[in-house]
This record gives sequence, C-alpha cells and structure tokens, in this order.
Amino acid sequence: MTRMTSIPAALVGVETNAIAAITMMTEPSSRPAKAMRRRTFISISAAGLGLAQLPGLLRLRQGSAAAASGPLDLASLPQLQKAGSLLLKNTALGPVLLISQPAPVLVRAVDPRCPHKGCLVDWQSSEQLFVCPCHDAEFNASGQLTNGRKARGPLTTFKATVANGRVLVSPG
Ligand code: FES
Repeated sequence: MTRMTSIPAALVGVETNAIAAITMMTEPSSRPAKAMRRRTFISISAAGLGLAQLPGLLRLRQGSAAAASGPLDLASLPQLQKAGSLLLKNTALGPVLLISQPAPVLVRAVDPRCPHKGCLVDWQSSEQLFVCPCHDAEFNASGQLTNGRKARGPLTTFKATVANGRVLVSPG
C-alpha cells in the first residue's frame, strides 16, 4: 500500500537530503527498489523546485511590504555623498547599495547581489561601475551588465529619490 506523505510547511527550509530521508523513511520496506528510487527522485525534484522559488518569493514579499508602507528612509544625503556609497544589508527590500552621483541624478540604489551567484558587488566610483568580486562581472551605474563571462542579466534596481536631505528608496 502506498502512503502519501506531505512535507509540513515547517520543513521548507530543511536541506534536500533531509527531505529525501523523510521520504525514504515512509516507504514500506517490501516495495521494489526501482519504484522506491523513482518516488524518491520525484520527491527530491519537487522539493528542489519548491526551494528554488523561495528567494524570488521572499524578494517579492519584501518588496510588497515596502511598497505598502511607502519608501524606505535609508540614509542622509550628506552622509552618502561623503562616503560615495553605502551598503545596507538588512532593509525591508533586502540588501541595498546606495551610490551618490553628480546632479541631476544624485542617488541610485541597487540590490548588490550579483545575478550570477549572489556575491555582493562593489561600487568603483573612479570607473563608475559595480564590480563583482567573484567572477569580475561589471555593471554600469544603471545596473546594466557591461562585461561578464558568467553573469547574464542586470542588477535589480530600486527607485531612489531625495527629500529634505534624506535618501528614500522604494521598489523599482
Ligand atoms: S557571482 Fe558575480 S559574476 Fe559570478
């Protein structure tokens, strides 16, 4: 008799190996090995697909929360202009890298996670480029990929404005 086992929501963050182990433990020991391998493969694939969607879903949820509560006040303009760039790792939008620019743009905000493998890019003001330290991808100030053997897409950008000397950021 086949027993269907659903994976509790509390296990969503658990390693795929642990989910595979749970699936295998629920199999009756008399089932043929071939059928068990197929079910195990299907279970692992389903769990993997579900986990692969999590980062995107979390970003979407964070963006929705920020949009609902209005722009985030992330820094003072003089502070940003003095530093040239500011990395804020834990905002409601996730990590945000602010850079100051000459007028009329003044400020820009990007998600610093490289679209290739997620390394945090650095702002090179002398070259006006975001540079990924892992595989040397380069993005211009607008977040567009300008050079990259591995990265394929742009950085995620946010809408950045200045009001009363404060830098306000909202989903792009
Ligand atoms: S992680 Fe940035 S180019 Fe690979």
